[in-house]
Amino acid sequence: MQESFERAYPFELADKLETEGNLTDDELKAVLLFDAPGFDEYLAGKARAVREKHYGKEVYLRGLIEFTNYCKNNCYYCGIRRGNANAERYRLSEDLILSCCDMGYELGFRTFVLQGGEDPYYTDELVVSIVSAIKERHPDCAVTLSIGEREKESYQKFFDAGAERYLLRHETADKAHYRMLHPDELSFDHRMQCLKNLKEIGYQVGTGMMVGSPYQTTEHLVKDLRFLKDFGPEMVGMGPFIPHHDTCFADSPAGTVEMTVRLLAVIRLLLPDVLLPATTALGTIDPIGREKGLLAGANVIMPNLSPADVRSKYLLYDNKKVTGDEAAEAVRDMTRRISSVGYEAVVARGDHANFRK
Ligand code: 5AD
Repeated sequence: MQESFERAYPFELADKLETEGNLTDDELKAVLLFDAPGFDEYLAGKARAVREKHYGKEVYLRGLIEFTNYCKNNCYYCGIRRGNANAERYRLSEDLILSCCDMGYELGFRTFVLQGGEDPYYTDELVVSIVSAIKERHPDCAVTLSIGEREKESYQKFFDAGAERYLLRHETADKAHYRMLHPDELSFDHRMQCLKNLKEIGYQVGTGMMVGSPYQTTEHLVKDLRFLKDFGPEMVGMGPFIPHHDTCFADSPAGTVEMTVRLLAVIRLLLPDVLLPATTALGTIDPIGREKGLLAGANVIMPNLSPADVRSKYLLYDNKKVTGDEAAEAVRDMTRRISSVGYEAVVARGDHANFRK
C-alpha cells in the first residue's frame, strides 16, 4: 500500500496544482524531487492543457537584438562579465539597431527585444532615442528592453518613450544564494527594488532564474517559484545554467533539460496565462530542448535578429546555439521546430492578457 501511496501522491499534487494554481512549499518540493516513470509526461500534459486554454496553439515569436556585450557587472556565471578579458566586445549603433528592426519587421516580427550587458555607453538619452525611433517607424510593434538595473527615473523615461515591456531576471530568490553568484557590488535588494519599480511604472515585466546554477538547491527553486507566484510577472524567462569557460564557474555542471522542462510545466500551472519562452539556453543543452519546452507549456520563442558578425560574440555561456547567417533562416528554423510539435508560430505582438489593447 505504502508503495502505491508514494507513487500516487505527486500525481495528485499535479492535479491540485492544475485546479488550484498553487501548492504549498513542501508540495512544490515534492513535485520537483519526484522521480517515477510517467510523471513528467503527466505534468507536461496538464501544462499543455492550461496553455492551450489561454493561448490555443499559438507560439509568439519575438525578434531578439543583442545590441551590446559590454557590461559593467562581473556576475560570476556570465561570459560577458567585465572581468572576461577574452570576450570580443561590440556595440551596435542606433542606425544598425534600427535596420535590424526594419529587417525584422519585413520578416513579420511585431515585438523587438533589445537586450544587452549593462553598458553605460547607452545613456538614458540614447536608449530613449532608440526606443522612440523604433516606435516612430513601427508604431504597431512592441519594444521590450532587457538592459539590466537602472534608476526608476530612467525606467520611467524609457516607458514614456514607448517601451512597454522589460525583462530583468531575478536570477535567484534566495539572498544568500544571490551572494554566491554575484560580487558584493551587486545587491539582491536592489534587484528586487528594480523589479518593483518596473511593475509600478506599468511595464509588462519578465523575470526568472537559471536552473541548476552553482550552489542551487531544491529549496532555492521552491523559493523562486514562490517569488514568481507572489510577484506575478507577465513573463518568465528561465533556462538552464550553462558554464562558460572564462568564468569562475567554468567547471560547474550545467542545469538539466529534465529539471528545466519540469519547472516550465510547474510555472505554467502556477501562472496560467504567463508568457513563457523556450529559451536558447534550453536549445543549447539539448538539440530539441526548445521543442520539449513547448510541449511542457512554453509559448514564446525569441529568434535572433542581431547581425551575423556579432551574433557569435554575445556569448553568455559556452556552445550557444547560433543559427545560420540570416535572420530569415532563424525564423524558418524556429517555425519548422514549432510546427514539428503541433504548434503554430505567430508574429503578432502577443501582449499578456491584462495588457491587450
Ligand atoms: N548560463 C545560462 N544563462 C546565463 N545567463 C547569464 N549567464 C548564463 C549562463 N552561464 C542568463 C542570466 C541573464 C540572462 C540574460 O542570461 O539569467 O539574466
